[in-house]
Amino acid sequence: MVIGLIGAAGSDSLDRVSRFAHPAGDRHAEVLPEERPPHAPADLNGLDPHIWPRTAGRDGGAVTIGGADVRDLVAEHGTPLYVVDEEDFRSRCRDYREAYADGDVHYAGKAFLCRETARWVMQEGLGLDVCSGGELAVALSVGFPPERITMHGNNKSLAELERAVEAGVGHIVADSFEEIARLGFLADKHGRRPRVMIRVTVGVEAHTHEFIATAHDDQKFGFSLGSGAAAEAARRVLALPQLELVGLHSHIGSQITDTAGFEVAARRLATLLVQIKEEHGVVLPELDLGGGYGIPYVEGDTAPDVKVIADGLREIVTRVAESAGLPVPRLTVEPGRSIAGRAGVTLYEVGTIKDVEGLRTYVSVDGGMSDNIRTALYGAEYTARLASRESDAEPMLSRLVGKHCESGDMVVRDLWLPADLATGDLVAVAGTGAYCRSLANNYNYLPKPAVVAVKDGESRVIVRRETEEDLLRGQL
Ligand SMILES: Cc1ncc(COP(=O)(O)O)c(C=O)c1O
Repeated sequence: MVIGLIGAAGSDSLDRVSRFAHPAGDRHAEVLPEERPPHAPADLNGLDPHIWPRTAGRDGGAVTIGGADVRDLVAEHGTPLYVVDEEDFRSRCRDYREAYADGDVHYAGKAFLCRETARWVMQEGLGLDVCSGGELAVALSVGFPPERITMHGNNKSLAELERAVEAGVGHIVADSFEEIARLGFLADKHGRRPRVMIRVTVGVEAHTHEFIATAHDDQKFGFSLGSGAAAEAARRVLALPQLELVGLHSHIGSQITDTAGFEVAARRLATLLVQIKEEHGVVLPELDLGGGYGIPYVEGDTAPDVKVIADGLREIVTRVAESAGLPVPRLTVEPGRSIAGRAGVTLYEVGTIKDVEGLRTYVSVDGGMSDNIRTALYGAEYTARLASRESDAEPMLSRLVGKHCESGDMVVRDLWLPADLATGDLVAVAGTGAYCRSLANNYNYLPKPAVVAVKDGESRVIVRRETEEDLLRGQL
């Protein structure tokens, strides 16, 4: 078997290049990506308030978050360290709550869920989306009201569904015909009447990276609208009186910065609402448009204002419903990244520094793709700063890399750091509050870092650092 075959040199052979390998020359020697070269920031010490946590600043040169000096945080908790600005997280929950006062906001736990963030979400009055038995267990363990929980997932096991039904979660989003049958069985068994939504694949692809867009027909999630599967799903749920069909759900992608895609999705969902009304005489009262609201990761990124998006979605849903002759459904949104993302910063200690003459400087830190796999996984971009002090040295084209045995182990592919950066300095990476700790892994047996919450100058460990004992636990 030949794997990783690279075509012979010459552009006419490029279409023979394996999906699993790439010609080393083009990518490794490239100094900066042509399409989006990062420019050296005007101020290498600056903390753009759109990108960094709401309470971030500098005091005596060092970065502070939630009033806590990063040097103190590291002295107490070590590196790598996930720092979560509690006020940032909570205030974004409140922004959502206010913007959707006449609808429902469910924080998508997959972005970053632990017992403490579940409490924050609960206290701020939001609902919670979970998509596994484990996420459900975290929520229930802190007394999250089950009626404010929605259960998602394209392959929920019978045990997961049973737990959700038993707990009395507010909504279960049905993703397959098998699941509808199982829900009917479980509802009978437990004498419950679960409230069910149908996940509809509306064929809208949000403008984002292919690997994280989730609304094509050619994907694992949901019932296709175009093929008629979604209408059939509605038929099957309505045929089971022990299930209550309350609405339709769609999620069109990630890092979305305007409402255009949602408009198309809402219009397509409305056709199904009309069909269900005509065929069954049933008017579904709820519409869940999912999550996917973008945040700025690097200078120049735009982030939609929560209120502007909320007003836009409300206007779209109202217009679409009215023109379809339907009552306006109650709107639910499921933001994850846009609540948790900017609250989080990862602190690393700089280790080895390797200058590749004429190209760039590789700055190695004491974590990498085990605590943040997004860069390696789908080319995510980040902003990072020297955090333990300020510097007025010249900008140095750098690549912030991890300590794992993969050359793709990058935290920030292209960035500018001050040329006097030295071993032992602390570097802070912004925007790591979502999909970093939740996607963390133990590659090369690195223990997962601690998560500390900071507020009013105080820090609290909300998820403790893993130890070597944790790594060995469960092995013969
Ligand atoms: C169904 C659903 N809802 C909400 C989200 C949250 O998306 P985001 O964190 O981009 O807001 C996701 C993310 O994959 C999702 O699949």
